[in-house]
Amino acid sequence: MNGIKIFSPATVANLACGFDVIGLALDLPKDEIFLYKSNNPGIRIKKIHGSSLPNDPKKNVAFVALQFLLKQYKKKQKFDKEKEEKIGFDIELIKNIHPGSGIGSSAASAAGVVYGANILLGKPFNTMQLIRFAMEGERVASGTAHADNVAPAIMGGLTLIRSYQPLDITKLHTPDKLWVSILHPQIVVRTSDAREILKQKILMTDAIRQWGNIGALVAGLYREDYELISRSLEDVIVEPIRSMLIPAFHELKIRCKEIGALGGGISGSGPSVFMLSKGNDTAKKVTEVMNQVYSPLQVDYKTYTSPISQQGVKCKCIQKLN
Ligand code: HSE
Repeated sequence: MNGIKIFSPATVANLACGFDVIGLALDLPKDEIFLYKSNNPGIRIKKIHGSSLPNDPKKNVAFVALQFLLKQYKKKQKFDKEKEEKIGFDIELIKNIHPGSGIGSSAASAAGVVYGANILLGKPFNTMQLIRFAMEGERVASGTAHADNVAPAIMGGLTLIRSYQPLDITKLHTPDKLWVSILHPQIVVRTSDAREILKQKILMTDAIRQWGNIGALVAGLYREDYELISRSLEDVIVEPIRSMLIPAFHELKIRCKEIGALGGGISGSGPSVFMLSKGNDTAKKVTEVMNQVYSPLQVDYKTYTSPISQQGVKCKCIQKLN
């Protein structure tokens, strides 16, 4: 096998109260990536469809993440020079997840290529190592190697990062009926900018409220206690600052909750907004309300209604095209 088609999911990071530590994988939208292992050394990005991502490989998250993996692979295999020079990859990216959307576009590229490359190389790396490589892609995209998009993309479901040093990530229980509505206003908020505007120091009273919410959110997920999940979807630290970047954010939240959403907030660094609901029917109504709030505005937007993807990245073997 020297070629693989990868489906890499969009992700929602932070889930309101869990800045940089909680995330989930969506079923829709997802990027498609064709990855070919070759005897031609180096990594080549052959084509990018659906987006104008940087041509400079050093700025391309897929390139950077794969480069990290390849470097570690060579070290691991202790290859002799001749063999070492014969490994390379060709990448073709179909970006269905818009860069700068806040639903893990860079993470989908980074997670997808490292996951696929690991299969093409005979699975030399474990999940935590793959997440580490993908995080290097995130470092390029946002200036910080955060894992709350790449972890759910690779592991599927809901994930919690207990610690970054050492990396300690746990997959959380996903209640059966949990659905997600996404509104993606077609404005670009760069993660690096959205991180720059955050305060570096927070009040103890805010910290207490936030970690109470995170603990209760996790408890709510395990108990499938939708009321507790609802009460816990509150962010007193990041949302008050970042919400200023998102048109009609507060109206959106109020209207979605009125129709039955459990709650929600900014997806990752925005501008997308997510809402959680109990059941597909309520989630569809919530998405409809998102459409109603945004259709009078002078802002293009897209909406999605999706369950949580338990699998995350998926792959399918293919033949080499040339
Ligand atoms: N936790 C990151 C942030 C996610 O909010 O900056 C970026 O998608």
